[in-house]
Amino acid sequence: MKVPYFDLARSHQKFVVQAQEAFDRILKSGAYILGPALKDLEAEFAAYIGTKYALGVGSGTDALTFGLKAAGIKKGDEVIVPSFTFTATALAVLHVGAIPVFADVEENTFNLDPQSVLQALSRKTRAMIPVHLFGQCANMTALMAIARQKKLKVVEDACQAHGALWAKVMAGAFGNAGAFSFYPTKNLGGIGDGGMVTTSDEKLLNRVIQYRNLGKGIDDPFVHDEIGWTSRLDSIQAAFLSLKLKFLDELNRERRAVAEMYHKKLAGTPLGLPREAAGAYHVYHIYVARVPDGKRNELKEYLAAQGIPTMIHYATPVHAQPIMKKHKTRKVKLPVTEKLREEVLTLPLFPGMTEPEIDAVAGAIQRFFAK
Ligand SMILES: Cc1ncc(COP(=O)(O)O)c(C=O)c1O
Repeated sequence: MKVPYFDLARSHQKFVVQAQEAFDRILKSGAYILGPALKDLEAEFAAYIGTKYALGVGSGTDALTFGLKAAGIKKGDEVIVPSFTFTATALAVLHVGAIPVFADVEENTFNLDPQSVLQALSRKTRAMIPVHLFGQCANMTALMAIARQKKLKVVEDACQAHGALWAKVMAGAFGNAGAFSFYPTKNLGGIGDGGMVTTSDEKLLNRVIQYRNLGKGIDDPFVHDEIGWTSRLDSIQAAFLSLKLKFLDELNRERRAVAEMYHKKLAGTPLGLPREAAGAYHVYHIYVARVPDGKRNELKEYLAAQGIPTMIHYATPVHAQPIMKKHKTRKVKLPVTEKLREEVLTLPLFPGMTEPEIDAVAGAIQRFFAK
């Protein structure tokens, strides 16, 4: 049986007719940029996350960049980030001219390790970006305590964690700002690129309003007093995301149900399975298992030959990306990151995935280890 890695059309089936109606409405309205559809989504998203404000932007990378810049991070400042993340986390640091400082992650959650953050601190540290990787929140109790004590700004990378909770608080509601991506396969994915900044700080909000819209003044749009970008979430995306937001909890429950079945069906195999930390509500953006004994690539090829696509998140940690060699960066010891890059394997998981599909994946993995 062939299993898709992801099936977007299937996960959108629940509301495809309503989406078509919404597109029709936007098309007829003529309000395509910064219109009422975006305002509505921003109010709904802020209410969902539990921040005072949310602001639609062009991508998750822009959301991170604007969040850092609006929090006052500038050239020469150091920003602590995990190395085990998607490269965009650290690109945002470079975009504002700051220095990424790479810290290690916890073995059981893949998220920023508070102990490693302590090692990474210096006199130049001004901020950290906890990444809520793969759908599970970082330990925000410990990380926010460090931030308070060391007076660091916190921009959360919640690009993979729409609806994830830590101690009953939503990802994106802890820091000075939260950054979300609406890339199609994300938990709240759009039908193109998009992103959102969440914050409860009005000053920070006003700066991002300017950055996303060419630096136009808040009071007078013909006065440009910032070097801004053109990075506005458009009305078609906003209308689609408003609709999908109503289904987000249900879609996340479906992801969790698939993960639960994988946990049960793979329990007897040598795989290291992802786990929900105490205090976390995991929304399984992706299901990342660990393959021991150097067998990861062999298992990946075996599954591919049986029609089961998998991915590796992430084989190259960010500190080892070529772009980082061209910029000033710093790192502490990264033993967990170095181990994970050799072991991780992402299995297919998407809302609406059926039990026979999950069985096909689990069965092939069992056969691999029985060889
Ligand atoms: C952890 C993380 N950070 C940042 C991004 C960047 O988001 P975007 O692709 O919307 O720029 C992504 C997703 O692509 C991501 O997974």
